[in-house]
Amino acid sequence: MRNPLSDKITNIKPSGIRRFFDIVSEMEDAISLGVGEPDFDTPWHIRDEGIYSLEKGKTFYTSNAGIKELRQEICNYYGRKQGVVYNPLTETLVTVGGSEGIDLALRCMLDPGDEVIIPTPCYVSYEPCTVMADGVPVILPLKNENQFRLTPEELEGAITEKTKVLILAFPNNPTGAIMEKEDLEAIAPIIEKHDLFVISDEIYSELSYKSKHVSICSIPGMRERTIIINGFSKAYAMTGWRLGYALGPEVIIKQMIKLHQFAIMCAPTTSQYAAIEALKNGEEDVIEMTEAYNQRRRYLMNEFKEMGLPCFEPFGAFYVFPCIKEFGMTSEEFALKFLEEEKVAVVPGTAFGDCGEGFLRISYAYSIEDLKVAIGRLKSFVEKLRNQ
Ligand SMILES: Cc1ncc(COP(=O)(O)O)c(C=O)c1O
Repeated sequence: MRNPLSDKITNIKPSGIRRFFDIVSEMEDAISLGVGEPDFDTPWHIRDEGIYSLEKGKTFYTSNAGIKELRQEICNYYGRKQGVVYNPLTETLVTVGGSEGIDLALRCMLDPGDEVIIPTPCYVSYEPCTVMADGVPVILPLKNENQFRLTPEELEGAITEKTKVLILAFPNNPTGAIMEKEDLEAIAPIIEKHDLFVISDEIYSELSYKSKHVSICSIPGMRERTIIINGFSKAYAMTGWRLGYALGPEVIIKQMIKLHQFAIMCAPTTSQYAAIEALKNGEEDVIEMTEAYNQRRRYLMNEFKEMGLPCFEPFGAFYVFPCIKEFGMTSEEFALKFLEEEKVAVVPGTAFGDCGEGFLRISYAYSIEDLKVAIGRLKSFVEKLRNQ
């Protein structure tokens, strides 16, 4: 029998995150600080709307691009938050999580050989989705000393004649870095000069602790070059509802709707009804959850300071990214040893790109009680290593 598989697909490496969770799930008393998923339940009034829609028999396909009222609410939200107006009928698509939006945007924008600049460390899907869309990933390592922001010099240095797309993902997973308005204003002229497009993954936009998130679409000249990817998983604690959206110029969204129609048909109907409620009446829940994350973030930063573990201050998402280079181990060795000896799972920085070597991703989407136990174990682990 000949090989049933495509070389392109078999050559893609599986995600480095899952392996650790498989070990954790077999281990008694283990604490995981590994998953990037809110520990909160979806707020009740949002769940209620999902349930109510089922009771009313809303169990059919919706329009391919999503329920009109939801698309309108999404546009209202970006109008309210970023002062940018989108057309709900022609510039908005409801997707199966931000994940689908990333995949669709890359498929619709790339021809074979087009280069995509992917600043790393970053979320695990950008590189494989670029390859699946026949694009060429150009990995751009960001630096700890720049607080893992993308600088104009770094961007300029990565551009070639084949560059078509830049992926911007701030607040960032795994570093927690943000790009503020002046950072975006500094790179916008370069994007324009080289006629690039931006896929801006803003899934953590609500989880910004220093200043309100500024989207690149609000920077002059950028709206027409940007596809925004966002969703409900992180801000509203709705990971399992699988709902996200894309906003952008009609020419691109139109093609994304076409692909989405063939591959998916429509995003889950129940989730779309719940999401309308989230956008209409979920603001207070978001504020409450964000405050809880911020309290945990400050707690961890204080503890790292006391331990003498270097960690730049992250102002977004729910991750910290401490540096463990002093211990002379790779990130993977450190994470494995920590898991075996102290039963705490964290993710090696290298799961998010080679430049994550020497760092760990620790998620604080966990209760403060769990965080305290885990930090106690980290302290004794670090002491042991230092006294060896
Ligand atoms: C940066 C980033 N983008 C996108 C996603 C996908 O989120 P979802 O598909 O649940 O909307 C994640 C999930 O962890 C993420 O961290």
